[in-house]
Amino acid sequence: MSCEGRPTRRTALAAGALAAAAATGCSKYGDEGADPEPPPSSPAASRSGGSPGKGGGAPPKGPVLARTSDIPVGGGKVFKDEKVVVTQPAEGDFKAFSAVCTHSGCTVRDVDDGTVNCPCHGSRFRVADGSVAGGPAPRPLPPRGIDVTGNSIRLT
Ligand code: FES
Repeated sequence: MSCEGRPTRRTALAAGALAAAAATGCSKYGDEGADPEPPPSSPAASRSGGSPGKGGGAPPKGPVLARTSDIPVGGGKVFKDEKVVVTQPAEGDFKAFSAVCTHSGCTVRDVDDGTVNCPCHGSRFRVADGSVAGGPAPRPLPPRGIDVTGNSIRLT
């Protein structure tokens, strides 16, 4: 509309300023050739970040924590970085618990002879349910969610 008539004083300042004013206030789409900016993000753009095609339906899962073969039957394994201990009290029956001892918060060290063992003050927790088998810990290890699909164990 009146974009061309208005910035006459600016025209004297710099042609570049006029071009910038035109780009911001009087935008034209087409053959300007000097508009390298991509269009602002739109809901369609953010949606396309997901899986293409249909909406899926499978909930997102975490990375594989372990293979089922990593967890001995009647024992378990401590994952210190994830602060979780995974046990297999009976073949094919996998459980997971917090690896943070309920006594004073040390990370449990290992699983041996049917118990999850804390190095700090000697608390022991049963692999079957995380209950206290000995030591000063006042409560069982809290359960953690896992998903076992095929040979893969993932935290949920
Ligand atoms: S912190 Fe585990 S026994 Fe004390």
